[in-house]
Amino acid sequence: ENTTSKEVVWHAHGVSREDRSRQKSQKPCLLWFTGLSGAGKSTVANALDCALFEQGKHTFLLDGDNVRHGLNKDLGFSDADRVENIRRIGEASKLFSDAGLIVLSAFISPFISDRQMVRSLFTAGEFIEIFVSTPIDVCEQRDPKGLYKKARAGKIKYFTGIDSDYEEPVNPDIILDTSKHSVDECVEELIELLKARKII
Ligand code: PPS
Ligand code: ADP
Repeated sequence: ENTTSKEVVWHAHGVSREDRSRQKSQKPCLLWFTGLSGAGKSTVANALDCALFEQGKHTFLLDGDNVRHGLNKDLGFSDADRVENIRRIGEASKLFSDAGLIVLSAFISPFISDRQMVRSLFTAGEFIEIFVSTPIDVCEQRDPKGLYKKARAGKIKYFTGIDSDYEEPVNPDIILDTSKHSVDECVEELIELLKARKII
């Protein structure tokens, strides 16, 4: 028998997820933003993070900037790499939530099965799926990083929405179309949802 893993388990029970949650007076959860590149996931997630922080909530934002440049810098955009990308992000999100935080994760996460896998790490109500549904033509017009242009020109392969699939959520907790609603409106809607779900 592996005594080391036994001890690790013992230590983990010293301060439970519930203890950390109680100390922070908030219910930990994962707010999962999914949608096309340029849909507004990072922008809205960051604005919500700021709003929650101002309210004194303990949060953490995971997005491409702090994940694809660090933890997942060995991964590209093949289907297999995207699956592994989301698996690691799901596990990291779970760890941050175990620390008692409200976690915001903003990734394309194009496959239903991967989002389902992340959901399965959480108890019901602690995983909130936010579908940023901005239509592709608007995303392509915005093209903040010039990637759609490159993809159309064949300079980037397997670009989501062009030559790589995006599977829309079937039953998301909320749908935000940023071509119809401002960042502030989206944040307000999300805060209402979090209140209704008794997360804040
Ligand atoms: S995924 O599908 O969830 O693994 O993708 P994600 O980790 O969110 O990374 C998406 C960002 O990487 C840039 N990029 C690409 N996106 C999609 N397809 C291809 N081929 C690609 N190559 C690079 C792109 O800027 C995405 O950033 P966002 O923030 O979504 O615009
Ligand atoms: P994603 O993370 O989904 O790739 P980003 O947030 O990086 O998307 O980019 C969205 C772009 O759209 C930004 O340049 C942002 O300023 C712009 N934008 C315009 N209107 C909105 C809105 N209502 N909500 C979010 N982003 C918007």
